[in-house]
Parts: sequence; structure tokens; C-alpha cells
Amino acid sequence: MAKLGATFSCLLSCLFLLFLGSVSAIKDDLQDKQVYIVYMGSLPSRADYTPMSHHINILQEITGESSIEGRLVRSYKRSFNGFAAMLTESERERVVEMEGVVSVFPNKMLQLQTTRSWDFMGLKEGKGTKRNPTVESDTIIGVIDIGIWPESESFSDKGFGPPPKKWKGACSGGRNFTCNNKLIGARDYTREGTRDTDGHGTHTASTAAGNAVADASFVGIGNGTARGGVPGSRIAAYKVCSARGCTSEAIMSAFDDAIADGVDLISISMGNKTAQMFHEDAIAIGAFHAMTKGILTVISAGNGGPTDSSVTAVAPWLLTVAASTTNRGFFTKVVLGNNKTLVGKTVNAFDLKGKMYPLVYGKSAALSADKEEFAELCLPGCVDISKVKGKILVCNSQDTLGLLEPSIKFAAIAIIYPTVIPDVAFLQPFPSSALQEEDHQSLLSYIESTNSPQAAVLKTESIFNQTSPVIGSFSSRGPNNIAVDILKPDVTAPGVEILAAYSPLGSPASTGDDTRHVNFSVVSGTSMSCPHVAGVAAYVKTFYPKWSPSMIQSAIMTTAWPVNATGTGFTSTEFAYGSGHVDPVAALNPGLVYELNKADHIAFLCGMNYTVTSLKLIAGEAVNCSKDNEILPRNLNYPSMSAKLSSNSSFTVTFDRTVTNVGTPNSTYKSKIVAGHGSKLSVEVTPSVLSFETVSEKQSFKVTVTGSELNSKLPSSVNLIWSDGTHNVRSPIVVWTR
Ligand SMILES: *[C@@H]1O[C@H](CO)[C@@H](O)[C@H](O)[C@H]1NC(C)=O
Ligand SMILES: *[C@@H]1O[C@H](CO)[C@@H](O)[C@H](O)[C@H]1NC(C)=O
Ligand SMILES: *[C@@H]1O[C@H](CO)[C@@H](O)[C@H](O)[C@H]1NC(C)=O
Ligand SMILES: *[C@@H]1O[C@H](CO)[C@@H](O)[C@H](O)[C@H]1NC(C)=O
Ligand SMILES: *[C@@H]1O[C@H](CO)[C@@H](O)[C@H](O)[C@H]1NC(C)=O
Ligand SMILES: *[C@@H]1O[C@H](CO)[C@@H](O)[C@H](O)[C@H]1NC(C)=O
Ligand SMILES: *[C@@H]1O[C@H](CO)[C@@H](O)[C@H](O)[C@H]1NC(C)=O
Ligand SMILES: *[C@@H]1O[C@H](CO)[C@@H](O)[C@H](O)[C@H]1NC(C)=O
Ligand SMILES: *[C@@H]1O[C@H](CO)[C@@H](O)[C@H](O)[C@H]1NC(C)=O
Ligand SMILES: *[C@@H]1O[C@H](CO)[C@@H](O)[C@H](O)[C@H]1NC(C)=O
Ligand SMILES: *[C@@H]1O[C@H](CO)[C@@H](O)[C@H](O)[C@H]1NC(C)=O
Repeated sequence: MAKLGATFSCLLSCLFLLFLGSVSAIKDDLQDKQVYIVYMGSLPSRADYTPMSHHINILQEITGESSIEGRLVRSYKRSFNGFAAMLTESERERVVEMEGVVSVFPNKMLQLQTTRSWDFMGLKEGKGTKRNPTVESDTIIGVIDIGIWPESESFSDKGFGPPPKKWKGACSGGRNFTCNNKLIGARDYTREGTRDTDGHGTHTASTAAGNAVADASFVGIGNGTARGGVPGSRIAAYKVCSARGCTSEAIMSAFDDAIADGVDLISISMGNKTAQMFHEDAIAIGAFHAMTKGILTVISAGNGGPTDSSVTAVAPWLLTVAASTTNRGFFTKVVLGNNKTLVGKTVNAFDLKGKMYPLVYGKSAALSADKEEFAELCLPGCVDISKVKGKILVCNSQDTLGLLEPSIKFAAIAIIYPTVIPDVAFLQPFPSSALQEEDHQSLLSYIESTNSPQAAVLKTESIFNQTSPVIGSFSSRGPNNIAVDILKPDVTAPGVEILAAYSPLGSPASTGDDTRHVNFSVVSGTSMSCPHVAGVAAYVKTFYPKWSPSMIQSAIMTTAWPVNATGTGFTSTEFAYGSGHVDPVAALNPGLVYELNKADHIAFLCGMNYTVTSLKLIAGEAVNCSKDNEILPRNLNYPSMSAKLSSNSSFTVTFDRTVTNVGTPNSTYKSKIVAGHGSKLSVEVTPSVLSFETVSEKQSFKVTVTGSELNSKLPSSVNLIWSDGTHNVRSPIVVWTR
């Protein structure tokens, strides 16, 4: 019974803390009215049409009130039509019936999901890299995030001329926010001002297009030149997230504005916990409109890995990015009193000068004997501060560390714990090292073996890691739950331990008790890999300003290099990395591209059996599906090929594709099949040779894949490569069953 009591007091305090976060997150929803997005499709082209007054009329009609004060949250009127408003449930029902209203959906909360990474990708600093400076300077990247720190050196406008002529945006970042000729635009949808007080938005924007800043480091760690993919390009920041999350109505507004403002590319590092149907997904809808206006949207895959089907950005008009390691890794050594050294993984900027301190295991620091079991995990309310003071505390859990009372955290000299994500070094607000399970056990044995255990926690060092890239365990995996025959994620890029600019007001450790103020920080996640690919896409666009989003996407996908993923089964395959690791330099010269336009995507959605109503929601206009404009989803002219089969018996599956020559005239490409993994597949490509007389010429072909005995635990894959001797245009082909 005594034990049960202890369970209660320890766990209660822990539950309370866990709940604090979610209470504030749902505060907005506790009223009887809630924000709905009333989506009205494309803007009418009539000259006399004024969206705002139409929106107000609709609101007056459904509320029966002439004053609609506080009801209209936002009008979308620049790139598509609609508005966001506070409505009751019955008002929602009425507005659905109104003329011109395509659909109404509730406003939702989404979550945000970062030297040397550009060198690693082959885009070197200085003379070694081919650049097109004039066009690069005319390229504008729209970053939809949690704001930006305008004073960061990464966004200094030294050497920049005035914004490109096509720029139609604004600097409305709120109080005390000034744009410049580098950071040319800012908008805020949170009423907080566009200033980034978190760090995430500054990190992503600087990764995509930040200036080269010499001698950047996180408190001396990872020092070197920090820079974005296209340092010569301009940035426009759209703040849609606050500490509570990112609302879909704000995201829709940001797309609406960014498209009209004249951005060339959109980078968005956020997503829901699960994939949404396209017509219920604000990002998919916004990005569809962007696509029709020639703007590619690059998005993070999500941090839900290694679980199958955790990828949340699943529409084929999105370029979805997984996260992988680079050849630089951080580690933090723990030297024990017996001279044994354990190699842990944190980003530890605290320099304890190699001094040894006594070690105390949480269990031995319990407030009372009945709390030992919970003190071992360093749960709040269970550890005795007097037993920890001046010592290195050893805890048995990483997950619960955030809950430990700050007074205890900071009374300890350092904290050592077993890592839950062994492939990532995280920051802590106190000196720390996270050990692999094996090392953690040997630490515990050492503590037991001696009367006065002691250790030193060293400052983080970096190593050159040849075993790279490796896909992050956290990086979200396919298969695609919404469009099962579209392979997602599309590519991988650096997203582990990335050094980039940060907000000095943000907490480096993302905890409330980290009081350090830094200009650069080390962060990991698909949020960090996404802007790398946005930078690559911008880089490609500086050489081919007229290329459509699908051409850029295809160039990036077909030139990606093959990679390996850790894990077993689905998580270790193309479902982790798609077409492979981006290669910015190769992407400039793809040879052939797989093109897609709006009509192709609509035919794909028809083939997905989308109803007229939900199709209208995505496309913004009425479309009737018929035999003439409907294709099997796997026949969408996508740069990768995938098919889900209903069973593991013998099968034959075909893919129709068309490639466009963007290389040289009079070129001949031969098809080649290179083995992947899983059970044996036979592949026939007809025709197997494609000849192009001119540039822009298109040729179609059919791929027929036959096989049997598919393993339901492991997809089977091969690679189709079109080669003219110079270009190798590679597409993974993945067939699977479950
Ligand atoms: C996230 O997904 C859940 C489950 O599908 C859904 O209920 C929720 O509304 C979604 N939230 C957002 C922000 O899309
Ligand atoms: C405005 O921003 C600058 C830049 O960080 C800051 O130093 C200053 O205190 C801010 N001023 C106000 C009034 O918030
Ligand atoms: C980074 O720091 C190390 C160690 O202090 C130093 O040797 C090196 O020169 C620094 N590199 C740069 C680029 O500042
Ligand atoms: C640890 O190494 C130091 C220096 O090499 C040595 O003086 C000391 O005796 C060693 N301690 C043990 C316990 O081996
Ligand atoms: C190098 O990277 C691999 C793959 O992520 C990892 O398993 C290994 O521990 C790393 N090596 C070091 C010395 O950190
Ligand atoms: C951060 O940048 C500001 C200028 O924006 C500079 O004054 C400050 O010294 C920098 N802080 C560090 C720790 O380098
Ligand atoms: C993937 O792993 C296999 C087996 O370890 C190895 O032979 C191959 O070279 C690796 N490929 C890449 C691209 O790292
Ligand atoms: C669409 O409906 C047809 C006919 O019912 C069915 O054969 C097909 O599998 C459906 N496609 C998808 C993607 O659900
Ligand atoms: C779709 O079909 C319906 C019914 O046949 C017709 O009334 C409508 O005009 C068609 N819409 C379009 C855009 O073709
Ligand atoms: C391509 O080949 C045709 C026929 O051989 C020739 O007439 C044409 O000049 C060639 N085009 C180029 C650009 O070499
Ligand atoms: C194929 O499916 C059957 C029936 O579900 C199962 O018994 C068999 O083990 C599967 N074969 C493979 C290779 O997965």
C-alpha cells in the first residue's frame, strides 16, 4: 500500500504538468462559437466583384445581425475566395447552403515539426559553385512558419539592391519589425507580430536562403560558416504559428497572400499528427492554388517515424522531405572515475573543464524509500534536492526529464540519462549526456561497484561520420495513407543536428527554463530538411526561371542519390527516403523531366473517386469527372512509381509515363533496370529506347511489372533509369501489399 501511495503522489504531479500544455492548447475551443473556414473556390473574374462585401453580406444573412463585429476573422480575397469567421454550429449549417459556398471546415491546430549541410550536399561556398546571381537576387522564398528574427546577420541586406520588381508584398510584421532588402516581406496572422520568439522560423528561413555568416556556432559548437542554399535570394516571412500551434485558417491566409505577393517558392515545415484527406487539409488546398500559379510548395514529411504511414504531407503537388544525417555528428563524452570513457549524444555547450564530480543515481536520491522507483526516473516530487546538489545525477528516463523540478535540475552539476532517440543529439538547459542503453547499464554497474563513484561530463565535440547519410529514426515514413499509389516522402535532405540562425528570444533547448540567448542553434527534425530542399528548388529555379513546379520537383527527385535507411521492413525502404538524397548540382541537369499540370492533378483526383464537392474544394472550381479526365492514381505522371497490391499472389501492374526532354536535342535514352530490394520483380519498359530530336519534345512509355509472393513485411523495389550516357534519370518503382 505504501508503494501505491508513492505511485499516486509521483504520478499525479507528473500528470498535472503534462496536462498544462494541452489545456492552453484547446482554450479557444471552449466557447460555443468556433472559427470556421468558409471556402468559396477561385475568385470570380468579374471586375465589379468585391470579395469582402460579399463575405460580410453572407455573414449578415446567416447571423441575422447587421453588426458582425468580432465575427469575421479573415477574408481570403487575393488568390482564392472565402473567409474565416466565428460561427455557431447552426450558423455553420446555414452557411453551407449559401450560394457560392464550396465548403465549410473547422479551423484546426497544426504543429511545427535544423554549417555544413550545404557542403555535404555538394553546394560548396564560393567559386566552386555555379551560380546565377542576377536571377538568384530576383528569387523570393516565402517561408510559412512562426516568424523570423529580422536583425539576424543571416538576413542582413548588405550588398542587396531593392526588392525585385515583381514583388507585390508588404512589410506588416507589426510593432518594432523592420524589413530590409533581404527580408523583403513580413505578414502576421497571430496578432503577435512577425518577430520570432521561438527560433524555429528563423532557423528554417536561414537554412533556405540565409546569408553566409562566418564564425557561426552554438556557443562554440559546430563553428564555421552558416549559410542558406540561395544566399542571394530574398525572403518573405509569413507567421501562422504561435506557441500554441499553427491554425489552418492562418495557413490558408498565408498561402493566399504569398501567392499574390509574388513569391517563387513556398517552404512550410509543419503538419498534423496524421495525414488528412486533401479536401480537409489547409496546406494541400493552399499548395494546390500555389501550384496552379507556378509556385512549388516544399514541405516536411513529419517527425512521426519510424512508424509506418506516419508521413503527413501526402499530396502529389507537394514536394515532401524526409530527414537524414550529414557527415558531421555531435557527441558528448562521459569520463568515469575508473578512467573508462562513455560516448553519449547531446549538444552540451557547458564547459565543466573536465572536472570530476560525485555521481548519484536517482534512486539513491529519493525523498523517501517508497519513492525510489520513481526517483529512479527523476519524476517530479520524488527526488531529494539535498542529495543531488553538487553531484552528477543519473536518471533512468529521457521522457520525464522535462518534468523534473527546475530547482533540482539546476542543483545538479549535470544529468546523465539513457537516450530514447539514439541518432540525434538534443540540447538540454543543463550540462548533460545521453547514453546508449548499453553504456547506461555500464554506468549503473560502475556506480554500484564503488563507494565514491564520480565522473566528468565533457563539452560536446564533433566528428566526421563516414556512415552518412542515414535517415533519422524520427523522420516520418510511408506508405501514403491517403493516396496509396503515390510514394511519399519524395526525397531526403539534412535534418539532423543542423546549425542555423535562431531567435535570441527562443529557448535553445525548447524548454521554459533555458535562459541562454543565442544567434545560432543546433536543431533536428524534418522541419530542418524541408528548407534545405526549398533552397535546392530555388537554386534550380535560378537557372530555369520558367520551369513549372512539377519540372523542378522531377529534376530534384530523378537526380537524387540512393541512400540506406536503418530499421527493418517498410521503414528501411523507399518509404523512408523516397527517391533518395537531394543533389543540388545534379538537379540542374536532369536530362528528362516528368511534367504535371493542374488538369493532370484533377484527373488523378477523379481517379481517387473524389466527389464533385470535395474536388471543388481542392481545385477551387466545379469539375465533373468523366472517363475522359480520369486516370488511375498510379498513372499520374509522377517521377516515382508505386502500387499497392491487394494480395501477395502473382501480379502484373502497369504504369503510364511521359517524359519531356530538357537536355540536348537529338538525344537517345535507353532504359535500364537496377535491382532494389524485396522479392524478385520482372520489369518490361515499352518502348525501351526513347529518341528526342528537339528540346521540349515529349515521349511516352509504359512500365509493366510482374512478380509473385510479395512479402507483406517488406515492399519490393527496382529502379528504372533512363540513360543517354550523360544523364541518369532514375525513378524508384515500389510495389507492396499489407
Ligand atoms: C489532425 O488529425 C486529427 C485526426 O485525423 C483530426 O481530428 C484533427 O482535426 C486534425 N487537426 C488538424 C490541425 O488538421
Ligand atoms: C525592438 O527590437 C529590438 C531588436 O531585438 C530590441 O532590441 C528592442 O528592445 C525592441 N524594442 C521594443 C520597443 O520592443
Ligand atoms: C572552430 O573552433 C576550433 C576549436 O576552438 C578552432 O580550432 C577552429 O579554428 C574554429 N573554426 C572556425 C571556422 O572558426
Ligand atoms: C586514470 O588515468 C590517470 C592518468 O592517466 C591515472 O593517473 C590514474 O591512476 C588512472 N586511474 C585509474 C583508476 O585507473
Ligand atoms: C555515425 O552515424 C551512424 C549512423 O547514424 C551512427 O550509427 C554512428 O553512431 C555514428 N558514429 C559516431 C561515432 O557518432
Ligand atoms: C548576436 O547578434 C547580435 C547582433 O544582432 C550581437 O550584438 C550579439 O553580440 C550576438 N550574440 C552572440 C552571442 O554572438
Ligand atoms: C547501403 O548498404 C549496403 C549494405 O550495407 C551497402 O553495400 C551500400 O553501399 C549502401 N549504399 C549506400 C548508398 O550507402
Ligand atoms: C474508385 O472507385 C472504383 C469503382 O468503384 C474502384 O474500382 C476504385 O478502386 C476506386 N479507386 C480508389 C482510389 O479508391
Ligand atoms: C457538371 O455536370 C452537371 C450535371 O450534368 C452540369 O449541370 C454542370 O454544368 C457540369 N459542370 C461542369 C463544370 O461541366
Ligand atoms: C538533329 O538531327 C537532325 C537530323 O539528323 C538534324 O537535321 C538537326 O540539325 C540536328 N539538330 C541538332 C541541334 O543537332
Ligand atoms: C502470402 O499470403 C498468404 C495468405 O495471406 C500467407 O500465408 C503467405 O505467408 C504470404 N506469403 C508471403 C511471402 O508473405
